[in-house]
Amino acid sequence: MSAPNNPAFVVRQDDITQTGLIDQPLLTATDLADGEVLLAIDRFSFTANNVSYAAFGKRFQYWDFFPAPAPWGQIPVWGFADVTASKHPDIKVGTRVYGYLPMSKQLKVQVGQLTDSSFVDVSEHRSHLALAYNQYQFTANDPAYRREHEALQMLLRPLLITSFLLDDFLAANDFFNADDILLTSASSKTALGLAFMLHHQKGKRAKPQRIVGLTSASNRDFVAGLGYYDAVVGYDDIEQMDSTRRSVVVDFAGNSDVLGRIHQQFGNQLTFSSLVGAAHWDQRSGNSKDLPGPVPEVFFAPGYWAQRAKESGNGVLMQQFAALWAPLVQSVAQWMEIKPVTGPEAMAVAYQDTLAGRVSPQQGVIMQL
Ligand SMILES: NC(=O)c1ccc[n+]([C@@H]2O[C@H](COP(=O)([O-])OP(=O)(O)OC[C@H]3O[C@@H](n4cnc5c(N)ncnc54)[C@H](OP(=O)(O)O)[C@@H]3O)[C@@H](O)[C@H]2O)c1
Repeated sequence: MSAPNNPAFVVRQDDITQTGLIDQPLLTATDLADGEVLLAIDRFSFTANNVSYAAFGKRFQYWDFFPAPAPWGQIPVWGFADVTASKHPDIKVGTRVYGYLPMSKQLKVQVGQLTDSSFVDVSEHRSHLALAYNQYQFTANDPAYRREHEALQMLLRPLLITSFLLDDFLAANDFFNADDILLTSASSKTALGLAFMLHHQKGKRAKPQRIVGLTSASNRDFVAGLGYYDAVVGYDDIEQMDSTRRSVVVDFAGNSDVLGRIHQQFGNQLTFSSLVGAAHWDQRSGNSKDLPGPVPEVFFAPGYWAQRAKESGNGVLMQQFAALWAPLVQSVAQWMEIKPVTGPEAMAVAYQDTLAGRVSPQQGVIMQL
């Protein structure tokens, strides 16, 4: 069978371990209506966060962004694309953008809400989805953009915005009066980002909490070596933790056994339990409502951003984020190894590796179809 000329990498919506390639019509300028723009997708990052988009595709409507014929779904990814054809008077061919993309080679968008720095894809099928995911930034007018840091931007920006919002949320709630902040899947980029931000801002906080990372035995040394956490504990040692310390847990792993054991260990000394991720996407089960201690609460970053933007304004939030982004990227650039993955076969392998948790936390996977 010859390779499709406009392939899309897809996974089965009902079994995300199954992958495939679907052929799509190759679009040209003649396929555009007024106001539409054609993007050639260049490169995108792939992390456990994208696996979570797939694992929660139906529940949180992630399959709706880039529809594929049943039973397939296109997983959204963060990356860069170039305008190759335009029927919008203010968007020129050659413009480079950053945003939410399918794992394919082309994307047609309907431009709306255009500013100097971004536009929103107002295509009908995306109108019910969060604005943060429908917005495309022009690299030329993005003060934080650096060509040489494109890989780090794709890998980190979507995740670190969540780290930033979690830091803000915890601070706004006076850290729920805790002594310790416990982060599961401490080796994930989102958890590392939060740990860095908590650590970086200790000096300006009245009573800085101890930042404790919980991770797999195999990732423990790497995580401890970064120095972002005050202590790093393997999942096997949860029962050895000091349960008299008032603690908040921020759960990036989504592993029912791990979270259950933390709740058992700390009981009412747990002052808040936040459900953020499911890096251990295949280890979710049961009902977290019956656990000892507080009922875990889901944290949805785009929703919290919208709430904070209403209170403080988008600009203020962006400035606060930029102040943390710069030192964090500087730090991560010292240790992160970028792993380029090119072509559908290599993508399928890297996808399975990410799904199975076989990617080293030191690596950042950048894909190109
Ligand atoms: N709620 C939100 O708005 C929001 C926003 C951003 C991210 N998140 C979530 O945060 C989580 C982390 O995302 P990320 O992109 O930062 O992750 P990442 O950097 O790709 O994290 C990799 C780490 O996740 C764990 N892991 C991944 N797959 C695994 C598997 N199959 N089995 C066991 N462990 C596995 C391992 O950490 P350990 O060994 O340390 O467990 C691994 O080192 C995701 O679930 C993501 O969806 C949520």
